[in-house]
Amino acid sequence: MKIAIPKERRAGEKRVAASPDTIKKLVALGFDVAVEKGAGAGASFTDDAFKAAGASIAAKADTLLKGADVVLKVQGPMVGGKDDELSAYEKGTVVIARMDALTNAETMKAYAEAGLTAFAMELMPRITRAQSMDILSSQSNLSGYKAVLDGASEFGRGFPMMMTAAGTIPPAKVFIMGVGVAGLQAIATAKRLGAVVTATDVRPATKEQVESLGGKFLVVDPEMEKDAQTAGGYAKEMPPEYYAKQKAVVAEHIKKQDMVITTALIPGRPAPELITEDMVKSMKQGSVIVDLAVEMGGNCKLAQLGKVIVKHGVTIVGHDNVPSRLAEDASSLFAKNLFNFITPHVNKDSKTLAFDWDDETVKGTLICKDGGLVHPALTGEGK
Ligand code: NAI
Repeated sequence: MKIAIPKERRAGEKRVAASPDTIKKLVALGFDVAVEKGAGAGASFTDDAFKAAGASIAAKADTLLKGADVVLKVQGPMVGGKDDELSAYEKGTVVIARMDALTNAETMKAYAEAGLTAFAMELMPRITRAQSMDILSSQSNLSGYKAVLDGASEFGRGFPMMMTAAGTIPPAKVFIMGVGVAGLQAIATAKRLGAVVTATDVRPATKEQVESLGGKFLVVDPEMEKDAQTAGGYAKEMPPEYYAKQKAVVAEHIKKQDMVITTALIPGRPAPELITEDMVKSMKQGSVIVDLAVEMGGNCKLAQLGKVIVKHGVTIVGHDNVPSRLAEDASSLFAKNLFNFITPHVNKDSKTLAFDWDDETVKGTLICKDGGLVHPALTGEGK
């Protein structure tokens, strides 16, 4: 059975969906693994390292994809236009990648029509058994860390308090909005650098988590927050009264902060607006905002995707695809997530992949099969 790993073609994508470590493990399971030439270059994995792990190297994507049973990718194949990737995929190929399926219905339809069996890894159910398959967690954790470093490099001051012969430097005040996986890692990173950290979230469970990392929790409205979490562990979209109250509480707090890192997301919806232009105006000159939600429309509406801008004396960082900025670690963890997803379905005797279609992790992520869409969120059955 052939597993293929193409080079990612989207602009700025440096990650790759396999590492020498996962290739070694796939080869040990009896698969033929082929990697496109240069696929790991952005993540510091050379073709030689892949070869040493047991993979063959294909010079081009079309030769790589020919006869591939399974394709492992970071981002789903592009459809149409000069960057089209889908036309090189054969009918019946299993594709496993991040697809942003809920906001890309047309692309998912094209995958179904092309006869792919596509798994969208961002839809992995948040159950204990699936934690090691969860690409959102593995990548968000790195984003949270990198956001603090990106903010620090734009900031004209240090983070820790420094008592020097020339005077005392006060510690930086860092405020984290959204305390999921990225936010928790941002808190831990900012604390390690010596900042005074505060944080807020709509999900009440996060208060204890913030405090356990040495941060102070900013309370908005505990009564309305009682029902803020879905059964899957994500935030719900809150009523307008909540957002109004949150803005009032945050407006007072933000004036005193040196850096704000926003990570707030609601699955399948645009990111909630948490920082208005007036709030930016109220911040001290030289302050920094890092908006990790910028790809979903941004928590700060002034943030621009892929840009670092200065507005009202505040630097607003809106880097696109932050995990790709730590491509080596991000690829290693992403590759391991995909490996952990497929291994329970490997038939060790026949050395093939035979999915258990009733498995919760399979049902939760399967987008299309046998020419049709099957995921309830896309067929309308999930409404
Ligand atoms: P996410 O990336 O969807 O959202 C980030 C954070 O933004 C969340 O904590 C959310 O509550 C918060 N948020 C949304 N609207 C907000 C608003 N208006 N103001 C402030 N904050 C707002 O979430 P993420 O990080 O992917 O995960 C959330 C939780 O899911 C984790 O903290 C964890 O408890 C759980 N989880 C469970 C896993 C499992 O069991 N397999 C794996 C990973 C996470």
